[in-house]
Amino acid sequence: MTAAVAETRVDSKGTRKVSPGPILLLGAPGVGKGTQAKELMAKWGIPQISTGDLLRYNRDHGTSLGRQAKEIMAAGKLVPDDLVNQMVAERLKQADTVAGYVLDGFPRTLNQAEWLDRHLAADPKALPVIAVSIQVGYTQLLRRITGRRSCPVCGTIYNIYLQPPKVDEKCDLDGTPLVRRSDDTEEVFRERMRTYETQTAPVVDHYRALGRFEEVNGDQPVEQVAADVMAAVARLRS
Ligand code: AP5
Ligand code: MG
Repeated sequence: MTAAVAETRVDSKGTRKVSPGPILLLGAPGVGKGTQAKELMAKWGIPQISTGDLLRYNRDHGTSLGRQAKEIMAAGKLVPDDLVNQMVAERLKQADTVAGYVLDGFPRTLNQAEWLDRHLAADPKALPVIAVSIQVGYTQLLRRITGRRSCPVCGTIYNIYLQPPKVDEKCDLDGTPLVRRSDDTEEVFRERMRTYETQTAPVVDHYRALGRFEEVNGDQPVEQVAADVMAAVARLRS
């Protein structure tokens, strides 16, 4: 399937490499955007760009951006568009994005989507963006959010109910004690869902209307969701 995914390019050593281009993973909190982004990263060697992860990094390191974002994130609201767009613009300048990247959690407002459209249109070599929206029902999302744990060292995502580590609360890969996100409470999850319905659902409609858009059932085993996402990417790039 990989060969069908996108253009191939030849690197400086003459090796042919696949270039899947920009891929957006859309969907409500807990649908599995981060989990699936890591599958695509492993498959195609392209980076995951998670605005949530970048904001948490800034928050935990006390940067100016992190200080501005902290309370907003804790409340389950959205960080202002100009701050997030600027952060994404900086990240997209890095050389590892040349063959493509997976944007996870961005865009999240119509303003962000229109900014991204303009930003990519300014680069004549950029492949058009493709969007895959992952769907999961509310009750399952609540279980996923309240059971989520992650490794602070390697970023692997677990779930104490659905995808537990082999040893309780320890990462399978490096044994590090797992951590829980401070916004993974039922109360903040409800607010994040409200924010999603009012501000992010229109982004899904925006990409549906543009075409180059598919929906995938996220309420299946991780491997099956990954296969469906990759098949959708292959169709959208064919
Ligand atoms: P962000 O970090 O993006 O949070 P989110 O959108 O709420 O999404 P999550 O990370 O909670 O879920 P996910 O879809 O990645 O699911 P995961 O793979 O972890 O944003 C956090 C905050 O930052 C926002 O609230 C906002 O304040 C701010 N922010 C971020 N981006 C912004 C932007 N663009 N503009 C403005 N503000 C922004 O999986 C969830 C759980 O389910 C895990 O436990 C996992 O193990 C489990 N799981 C996953 N797939 C499966 C499966 N198939 N079967 C069983 N379990 C599964
Ligand atoms: Mg995530």
